[in-house]
Amino acid sequence: MVDIARPLFPWVGGKEKLAPYITQIFPPNVKQYLEPFGGSGSVLLSMAPVPGRLDIYNDLNAELSNLILCVKEKTNVLVKELRFLPIHSREVFDFYKDFLDHKEVTLRNIQEELEVLDDRTCFTAEQAAELRPILLERMELYDVQRAAAYYLRIRGSFNATTTSFAVKGMDLSRFLYLFFPAAERLRDVAIENKDAIQIIRERDGPNRLTYCDPPYFGAERSYDSRIAIKYHERLHRVLRNCQGPVVVSYNDHEYIRFLYKDFYILSFVRDNPMAKREGALYGELLMTNYDPTPFLADQLTLFSDLETEKLRLKLVHIPERAIITL
Ligand SMILES: C[S@@+](CC[C@H](N)C(=O)[O-])C[C@H]1O[C@@H](n2cnc3c(N)ncnc32)[C@H](O)[C@@H]1O
Repeated sequence: MVDIARPLFPWVGGKEKLAPYITQIFPPNVKQYLEPFGGSGSVLLSMAPVPGRLDIYNDLNAELSNLILCVKEKTNVLVKELRFLPIHSREVFDFYKDFLDHKEVTLRNIQEELEVLDDRTCFTAEQAAELRPILLERMELYDVQRAAAYYLRIRGSFNATTTSFAVKGMDLSRFLYLFFPAAERLRDVAIENKDAIQIIRERDGPNRLTYCDPPYFGAERSYDSRIAIKYHERLHRVLRNCQGPVVVSYNDHEYIRFLYKDFYILSFVRDNPMAKREGALYGELLMTNYDPTPFLADQLTLFSDLETEKLRLKLVHIPERAIITL
């Protein structure tokens, strides 16, 4: 299987290596593919586009979805911006962190300035017509600057957490070649910035596939949006009622196995990227609201025997009946 495009940056819980194993159980011929917890987009980027299928990327993190949107729609401007923004020191990293932290103020200012243009006691129609494109351009540029700053913040932080500065040399030009295939893959992808539950409710329907990769149970603090146990339960309730096929990723935890007992549950293990000890393994679960067994007959063998054995999906729970049939 050839990757269509690779993610542009590492991300906590990123699925780049696991993507082929996850997508092998996706039903084919769906008319929509939704990823409500998009992150670095590694799963979506690994999938070939299909004519007639609408692909949707969503993440609640506004900086992240702005970055993905700029990769898609302002690729060259963003790449240009990144070439001019080396980040080699703690001071520069902090500068970009501050820049992002004050985003609302600057954005609101431009928006308010645009509103003043419509006040005829301040500007004539001609003056407003002259000023509007200048302000709109500044606003657009601001999105790109924010995206570049956020990208640097991810690249400059420890384990891509965006909060702590990792002391490491960085030659960004090594990563710039990733931007163009990603932009090409994202060309017809809709980019959203909503709460996952909201977008699932809006977009679910027969023959519409939803792949959910929420913050893992117990690891919710790794992300800006702190979700609590109640959110995992609400998400399950919403997914349980979906009309379209649903696939969910989680860490292997007994509470998740219990919560998703009305789904099929598959388990596998992978190397633990966060562990300091070599050879440490991490248990993963994949839940489906449909019977995944037809997709398991020919499991992928991309790696050496040992690696393949670890990543082999094992059906560990069969519900009384499937929620939907394909
Ligand atoms: C495990 S990561 C997804 C990783 C992704 N599959 C990848 O390969 O990079 C979970 C993502 O969910 C996002 N998130 C957290 N709470 C959310 C919510 N309530 N709605 C939508 N996205 C949310 C986080 O910003 C994070 O990017």
